[in-house]
This record gives sequence, C-alpha cells and structure tokens, in this order.
Amino acid sequence: MIQLSGGNLVQDSSAIILAVETSCDETALAVIRGTELIAGEVSSQIKIHGEFGGVVPEVASRNHLKVLRPVLMAVLAKAGVGCGDLDAIAATSGPGLATSLMVGASLAKGMAVALGKPFLAINHIEGHLLSPFIRVQGGPCSSVGLVVSGGHTLLVRIHGLGRYELLGKSVDDAAGEAFDKVGKLLGLPYPGGPHVNRCAERGDPCRFDFPRSMMASGNFHFSFSGLKTAVRYMLEKCDPIPVEDVCASFQEAVVEVLVKKTIRAVLAAGVDTLAISGGVSCNSRLRERFANECKARRIHLLLAPPELCTDNAGMIAYVAALRFAQGVPSELASEIEPNLRLAGVAGI
Ligand code: KG4
Ligand code: ZN
Repeated sequence: MIQLSGGNLVQDSSAIILAVETSCDETALAVIRGTELIAGEVSSQIKIHGEFGGVVPEVASRNHLKVLRPVLMAVLAKAGVGCGDLDAIAATSGPGLATSLMVGASLAKGMAVALGKPFLAINHIEGHLLSPFIRVQGGPCSSVGLVVSGGHTLLVRIHGLGRYELLGKSVDDAAGEAFDKVGKLLGLPYPGGPHVNRCAERGDPCRFDFPRSMMASGNFHFSFSGLKTAVRYMLEKCDPIPVEDVCASFQEAVVEVLVKKTIRAVLAAGVDTLAISGGVSCNSRLRERFANECKARRIHLLLAPPELCTDNAGMIAYVAALRFAQGVPSELASEIEPNLRLAGVAGI
C-alpha cells in the first residue's frame, strides 16, 4: 500500500525544510528554518558539459546521482541539523530535464517516506520568481516579476503566493539562451552569459546597432532570436572579430529591451515593486540599468543576491517554506513534469 503523503503538515514558522534542486545540470541542496536560509550547496557540472558545448541530459543525471549523497551530507553538516530534525523534504518537480528532475525528486520522496515527513513538489520557475522576496518581511507582495533565465523570459503580475498572471514572455529564445548562443558564436566557454558580460565590460556598447525587437509591439512579449541572427551576420563580415565590442553592443540591446518593456509593464500594472530573478539577473549591466531606471521612477527594485539568481536550492526551499506554512503537502505519487507551467498562469 503506497502512503500518498509522508506526513501531516503543521503550521510552524520555524519548520526546518530540506530542498533538492536537480532540474538541469546543477546539483543543489539547501536547508531553510522558517524563511531563513541556513545552508546551501551547489555542485556545478559546468566543466563536464562545457566539453560538449551544452548540457547532455544523460551525463547530467548520472552526475546528479554521483554527487547527491556527498552534497546532502555537506549541506546538513553546514546547517548543523540531522535528518531527524527535518520537518519536510522538498524537490523541484519541473520544468526541466526529465532524467535530472527524477533524481532529485526520488531522493526527496525517499527521505520523506523514510522519515515519515511531508513531501513538497516545487515549481522551478516559481522558485526563481519569488527568490527576490526571500529577505522581504511578509514575503511576496503585489508586484511585477521578471524572470530571465536560460530557459525562460517571463513578465508576471504577482498578486501573492500562487496567484500569478502572465503579462509577457519571449516568443522564441530566452534571454539567457541568446547570451549563450552569442557566446558560442564568439568561441567563448559554456555557458556564454557570464563570459559575454565580462568581455562587455571592456567593449563599446555603441559600436554596433543591433536590433531591439518588439519594442513597438504594443504588448509585453519579447523576441531575441533575430538579435542573435544579426550578431551572426555581422560576425561573417568582421576579420578580426572585435569580441569585446560585439559583447557590449549585444548586451546593451538585450538589456535595453528588457528594461524598457519591464518598466512599461510595471507602470501599466500600477504597482510600485519590481522583482527580478533568474541567471541573467546576475548581469552587471542589467542590474545597473534597472537600478537607475527604478530609482528615477521611484519603483522599489528587488534583486535576489547573485547566489540565488542562477539555479540553486535556496529558492526552492523558500517556496517550500511558504507552501508548508499553508499546510498543503504534495502527493508522493505526484510525477515530475518536464513542461510544468506556473500555477494559475496560462501560456507559460
Ligand atoms: O536561472 P539559470 O541558472 O538556469 C535556468 O533556469 O535556465 O540561468 C542560466 C542562464 C544561462 O543562460 C547563463 O548564461 C545566464 O543565465 N547567465 C548570465 C549571467 N550569469 C548567468 N547571462 C548574462 N550575464 C550574466 N552575468
Ligand atoms: Zn533556473
């Protein structure tokens, strides 16, 4: 007989939750007490996948299996807690690579059964979306959220925990995907985003006038694949390639579109808080431009600390803590969902 939930949830603001995130190529675990993160560990596979120029799903899942146990031991030791102290176990259930998601979810479900504690299935996008609120008293508030990662570029109206409305999204490449593809065209290491960012610091952002797609579209959607193609055509004409100027001009085009459309969305929604998350929100130019723009317009800007921008388990633990306080566990029989959408949002 399968026990569908590992235990009953209790409302406890100092509950200790272990979260496991293995949606792609980072093996990440974190421990949260209440809504305070007390430990986080990330074992990156970037070097392994760098050789292939991108993530190889089977290689990723094998490596998750290899490092999960030592990373689990490390995070528990760092947090100073034992398995018996845990009140719930959470894992990312999607979206992501099926074979990677399965590894983390299986560990979390197994621990929940063994310890007789509840299991919480958490949406990776929601983890990113709410990560900027982790140090905000009272948690997620009425705001607009911009998620800019390798897999998603989303503008979301946040009404509260679990109450989201899609305002806009990329109709083709995600912003991070565009950074990575341009990095690849330039021969930079995988993933290209951080390298393009570093090269851009020494480049001229006005040297090339790359397209700012969908600026006048009248909606809040984005498109980045034309920009990447424009970079490719331009590179065919250059010898030698002015890598730093290309990076700076490309980055400026991405950031300008993101800033202008996001600010428009905030003004149209009539809110005064903007929460930006996802790997691309580590970008120094993006952070600088949003900081200036929000200051000028008196918009309260929430940016997650860089270690919570790229994939991590702290953001999963935070959403798990908010859900745990609501008292609704997930079914142990619940499946991982590689194409999972954000709750309440059609079209994501
Ligand atoms: O959120 P994330 O770790 O994973 C996904 O859920 O996709 O985002 C990874 C993406 C990659 O495309 C990576 O190149 C990009 O974030 N990224 C950056 C920077 N740091 C990471 N892009 C631009 N500038 C950065 N500094
Ligand atoms: Zn992510």
